[in-house]
Amino acid sequence: MPTTNNCEKSRSSSKNQNNCQIKVMRKLFNEMQQDPQCKSMLKRNLNKDLFERLINRRTKMGSTLMDVIRSGLMNHDSNIGVYAPDPDAYQIFSDLFNRIIDEYHNFSATEKHPTSDFGKLSDFIDLDPENKFIISTRIRCGRSVKGFPFNPCLKEKQYKELEQKISTILLKGGAGDEELKGTYLPLTTMSKEEQKRLIDQHFLFKEGDRFLQTANACRFWPKGRGIFLNKARTFMVWINEEDHIRIISMQEGGNVGQVFGRLQRAIRMMESSGLEFVRDQRLGYLTFCPTNLGTTIRASVMIKLPKLSAQKQLFEATANKFNLQIRGSKGEHTDSDEGMYDISNRRRLGLTEYDAVMEMQRGVQQMIEMEKSM
Ligand code: ARG
Repeated sequence: MPTTNNCEKSRSSSKNQNNCQIKVMRKLFNEMQQDPQCKSMLKRNLNKDLFERLINRRTKMGSTLMDVIRSGLMNHDSNIGVYAPDPDAYQIFSDLFNRIIDEYHNFSATEKHPTSDFGKLSDFIDLDPENKFIISTRIRCGRSVKGFPFNPCLKEKQYKELEQKISTILLKGGAGDEELKGTYLPLTTMSKEEQKRLIDQHFLFKEGDRFLQTANACRFWPKGRGIFLNKARTFMVWINEEDHIRIISMQEGGNVGQVFGRLQRAIRMMESSGLEFVRDQRLGYLTFCPTNLGTTIRASVMIKLPKLSAQKQLFEATANKFNLQIRGSKGEHTDSDEGMYDISNRRRLGLTEYDAVMEMQRGVQQMIEMEKSM
C-alpha cells in the first residue's frame, strides 16, 4: 500500500509507479463497493463510471484521486470518506465532491455560499439557565492560511512556518482582551500526562485518528502541532491538526450568546493581525474535509436528555428535522457515555454563520422542551 502522497512524488513518479497505484486503487475500490458494512458517502457517490472518469486526474500540485479517497477506501466505517489534499482538489474532483457536498449540506452544484454574516449576538440565549441539561457549550470554526496547501501536501518546513506564524499572532493579538490572552503549548514539548489530561477535558484534539492518518494528514506528527489556550480554558486554537487553524470557544452551561461572542472576537483578532484565509467564491472558507466548508462553524452542546434519548427513533427523527447531528460524548466516531450526547448543527455550507449557530440553538431548545414534557 503506497502511503506517500502524490504531490510529494509527482515530479519523479514513473509510469510504472502510477500504474501500480491505479491497480491498488481499483482493488480497494472494488472491496469497498462490495462490503455490505460500508455505508459511507464515498461508496454511495463514487460509482464505477465516475471512478474511471476521475482516475487519471491530477491537481496542479500533483494530488490524485487516491489522495482524495484513500481514507474512505481504507476505513469502511467512514461516514464521508473523502478529503481535499489541496484547495484545487475541490475543482479538479468536483464531480465527486459536489455530490457529497450536496448530500451532506444540502447545497447543490449551482448554489453559492452567502457572504459572512454573524448577525445580532443578542438573539443567542442561555439554553439552560437552571443548569439541568447542558454540561457545556462549544462553538468552533476552521481556517486555512493563504499560500499553504492542506495537510497531505505540507512539507515539514511549512508545518513549522505555519505554527510560528499563527502562534506569534495569538501571543500578541490576544493581549488586549483578557479572555483571548493565553499560552501556546507545542505538542513536541508537551508531556504525555498533560496531553492526556487536556484530551480528557475535551480541550485538545485526539492523537492517532485513523481517518486522518490514512488521508496522509499526520505526517511529521507531532511537529508543527499544538494548542493555544487561555487561563479559563474557554478559548483555544488548534494549530495544524485537521486544518491549519481551529478556533474554539467553549464554557460550562448553555450560554450560546457568550460562547459565540467570544468566538467572534477571536476571529476578528486573527483577521486583523494580517493573516489571510482561503475563501472560495462558491464554497466559502475552504477546509480539508468537505463537511466543514462554508462557515466552517460547528456549534454544539454536551447534553443529558435521558427520557428523549431513551426513545431512539424519536430522538433521531427530531435531530434530523432540525438538521442536527448527534455524536457520543467522547467526540466523533464514539458512542454515548452515561446518556451524554454531543449535539450540533450539521450543515455549515450554504447558510450564514448566524444561521448555522441558530440551527443548533433552535433544535436544542426544542429537544429540551420535549424532555421537560416527558
Ligand atoms: N473522514 C471521516 C469520516 O468520513 C470524518 C468526517 C467528518 N469529520 C471530520 N472531522 N472532518 O467519517
